Amino acid sequence: MTVKPSVLQELPTDLVREQLPRHVAVIMDGNGRWAKRRGMPRIMGHRRGVDVLKDLLRCCRDWGIEALTAYAFSTENWGRPSEEVEFLMTLFERVLRQELREMMEEDVRIRFVGNLNALPRSLQSEIERSVTATQNNQGICFTIATNYGGRQEILQACREIASKVQQGVIQPDQIDEALFERHLYTAGSCDPDLLIRTSGEMRLSNFLLWQMAYSEIYVTETLWPDFDRKAFHQALCAYQQRDRRFGKL
Ligand code: FPP
Repeated sequence: MTVKPSVLQELPTDLVREQLPRHVAVIMDGNGRWAKRRGMPRIMGHRRGVDVLKDLLRCCRDWGIEALTAYAFSTENWGRPSEEVEFLMTLFERVLRQELREMMEEDVRIRFVGNLNALPRSLQSEIERSVTATQNNQGICFTIATNYGGRQEILQACREIASKVQQGVIQPDQIDEALFERHLYTAGSCDPDLLIRTSGEMRLSNFLLWQMAYSEIYVTETLWPDFDRKAFHQALCAYQQRDRRFGKL
C-alpha cells in the first residue's frame, strides 16, 4: 500500500512561498477508524499511516517547509491493548531501520521528543542511531514525538530548573521564556506555525502545549490514512487565509 505523490509534486500556484508555515505539526488521528471501515484490523490503519507520513515529509521538503513534527505515540497511548502497543513499537523500529538510508540521501535531520527511556531497548537503539546519523544533515527537520506528553515535558523542565536554582546555578529571577524553552525537549527548534489534526477531533491531546501557544489549528474530517497532498494543500490554503496577530492588533 504505497502512497504515490501522483499529483502536486511542486508547490501549487495558489500558495505564496513566503507565507508558508515554517513548521507544521500533525496529530495523525483516525487510523483505527479507517481500517475498521474497510473491515481490516486497526493495525492496518497504522501501516497505511506510515506511508502517508512519509509522503507528507517529502511534500514538505518539495514545497519548502523547514520542519515537520508528528505525534506518533502519546504518554496516554500505553493504555491501548498490549498487542496494538507492541505492534506500534515494532513498526517504529522497523520504519526507522528501513528508512534511514533514504533519509540520509534526502538530507533529513531526525529528532525525537518524549520520554525515550521508557521505550523498548531495541527501539531506543534505533532512535539513537537515526538521530546521530542525521544530526548534521541540513534539509528538513523531522521530529517524531514518541511517548510524548506536553504536561510531562513542562514538569521535567520545572524539575531541572528547580534543581539548578537549588544548586545556585541560576537565580529565580533569571527564569524567563527563553531559559524555560532551553529545558524543553524541543530546545533550539522553532514553534509550530500550523497544527493539523485529522479525523475531526478538536483537541490538543497533550501535544506541544507550551510550543503551540500561538499555532494556527486546522482540523479536517479526513482520516489520517487518507490525508494526501491535496488535503495538505487545502490545509495550507486555510492557513494562508489566517490573520496571525499574536495577541496584537
Ligand atoms: C491515532 O489513530 C494514531 C496513532 C496513535 C499512531 C500513529 C502512528 C503512526 C501513523 C506511525 C508513525 C510511524 C513513525 C515511524 C513515526 P487512532 O488509532 O487513535 O485512530 P482512531 O481514532 O480511529 O481509533
